Amino acid sequence: MLTAEEILQIEHEISLVPKRKAACIEALKIVQHNRGWISDESLKDVAGIVDMSPAELDSVATFYNLIFRRPVGRHVILLCDSISCWVMGYEEIRDYLFTNLGIQYGQTTEDGRFTLLPNACLGTCDCAPALMIGNDLYRNLTVDQLDEILSKYS
Ligand code: FES
Repeated sequence: MLTAEEILQIEHEISLVPKRKAACIEALKIVQHNRGWISDESLKDVAGIVDMSPAELDSVATFYNLIFRRPVGRHVILLCDSISCWVMGYEEIRDYLFTNLGIQYGQTTEDGRFTLLPNACLGTCDCAPALMIGNDLYRNLTVDQLDEILSKYS
């Protein structure tokens, strides 16, 4: 069940747009911010508030890859998996993360620290390869930087 505070925040987002549905992503983000991910129950609750069916909202949530429909680690690593990064050394970064975190895409480390996801272009192609952890964007990456970057996230 959504909290009163969550409902209040969602209603505020709805007040800013012409139709309740138009606030659906912001509503999901509010819930995800509090709970880490969007469970089926949360999805149903949000759908009711934004006047959508759960299936309709789920298709939006699934399309939008920053909405997590499964539990994730404390930190989500989004590794850019698009053309400029492919050209500029993406594979080396990906393989290093796979090996050193002991996970593949879509998985979470055993200690719950990191989830690793591929992501379409992070919008910084001129500084490829790139990845994001939470709100932090790392550009011009080299494998040598990864240990230090990862150590910032406990
Ligand atoms: S292709 Fe990686 S940031 Fe654009």
